[in-house]
Amino acid sequence: MNKKNITVWGARFKQKTSDLFQNSGTSIDIDKRLYNEDIKASIIHVKMLSKQKIISIKNAKNIIEGLKKIHKEIKNNKFKFQKKYEDIHLNIEKRLFEIIGKDAGYMHTARSRNDQVITDFKLWMLTATKEIIFEINSLIKTIIIKTNKNLNVIMPGLTHLKNAQPIYFSHYLLACVEMFNRDKKRFISNLDNLYENPLGVAALSGTSYKIDRFYTTKHLGFKKPTNNSIDTVSDRDFALDFLSSSAICSLHISRISEELIIWNSDAFKMINLSDKILTGSSIMPQKKNPDPLELLRGKSGTSFGNLNAMLTILKGLPLSYFKDMQDDKEIVFNTFDNIKKCIKILNEVIRNIKPNKIRMLNLAGEGFTTATDFADYLVQKKKISFRNAYKLSAKLVDYAEGKKKRLDQLKIEELKKIKSDLGIEALKVLNVTNSVNSKRSFGGTSLYNVKKMLKKYKKEFNA
Ligand code: ARG
Repeated sequence: MNKKNITVWGARFKQKTSDLFQNSGTSIDIDKRLYNEDIKASIIHVKMLSKQKIISIKNAKNIIEGLKKIHKEIKNNKFKFQKKYEDIHLNIEKRLFEIIGKDAGYMHTARSRNDQVITDFKLWMLTATKEIIFEINSLIKTIIIKTNKNLNVIMPGLTHLKNAQPIYFSHYLLACVEMFNRDKKRFISNLDNLYENPLGVAALSGTSYKIDRFYTTKHLGFKKPTNNSIDTVSDRDFALDFLSSSAICSLHISRISEELIIWNSDAFKMINLSDKILTGSSIMPQKKNPDPLELLRGKSGTSFGNLNAMLTILKGLPLSYFKDMQDDKEIVFNTFDNIKKCIKILNEVIRNIKPNKIRMLNLAGEGFTTATDFADYLVQKKKISFRNAYKLSAKLVDYAEGKKKRLDQLKIEELKKIKSDLGIEALKVLNVTNSVNSKRSFGGTSLYNVKKMLKKYKKEFNA
């Protein structure tokens, strides 16, 4: 054997790996983040090997003690990660040899780095996914509290960014709860696949040793062993699940951020943001900019990019392991760090928003927003078809526009010009408060509905 070849596979290699490849093929800077999971999985693996009499009890004890020492070293920043040992698995194995000597050579019995890395990664992602679920929960709670404080605030509901129909601000906030609750459910359903234990499928075909995959499943906190060794080493769907759930969640964050940026603009002035979440300009002294919201909107780009990167990496790979897959961790770690931060930032932003109630109410009545209510009134009280009522209401809007009046400023005599048998109660439907509260259909904006939904969510989220 070439003495200079320090790799575990050095036995058949006559030349040292090129420096250029070693430096680019190494993943230790990224996957050292998996050290906790790697050591935990190795300890359970070794316990299983000794229980199955594949290695001796003494041997297993030595390995486990060594691994615990390594764990301490890494935790206390005493461990020297080395690029030449490629990844976290081999860095730890090399160090184990230094600490306990040749007994270390038994640790990798009946496994491959192919199943080892997925085991570590899935364990890490179980924790990461639960952390994201926790952050989403806390964001939802914040939104629920905001809803509770602003139950009666009326604002313009927009379509095409034009005033459409009045809505309750609280109803808008509960729409955000729906979005994030779906995100939460998506992350929760990802746990199912993550709970399948890959350990023991070895390189791709399983192993001839009498291993006990049910033992490692139980002791690593998985729920069942994976069914097929080939699929197991090929599968990165769990990473895609995480990346796509994160992409959708960041899409939601981005849309809400954009909306808040618009509401905060000088043209809209519908909300005030506290100084805590604003930044100034280096040249314009008057400026207070909503930078955190722009950051949130922008970060969705990275999140979509990461999903796309992972899909592209996998799309041409035949089944089983290829080095291409090594980049999965960098991508997932990056998305995790970003999405976690973004959810926390949005949480802080929402806590620091104040609706400008008077402005919102005024805008809610701008743009003839109760024209549909008037048409609906004619259909329901005057027994005419909706299309006919629509025409009459359009006439009323034309009239009001000509007179430069809002619909709720019209007098009964003016209404009678459109339809002579209209009584004084017809004026009521032009009022925005009456409009919102008439929307009692299930899921509609009426205060009655909002209160009912809020009650349900308060209970569900303990808010
Ligand atoms: N560092 C590798 C990765 O993350 C571990 C698996 C290596 N397996 C192999 N056959 N080279 O993908």
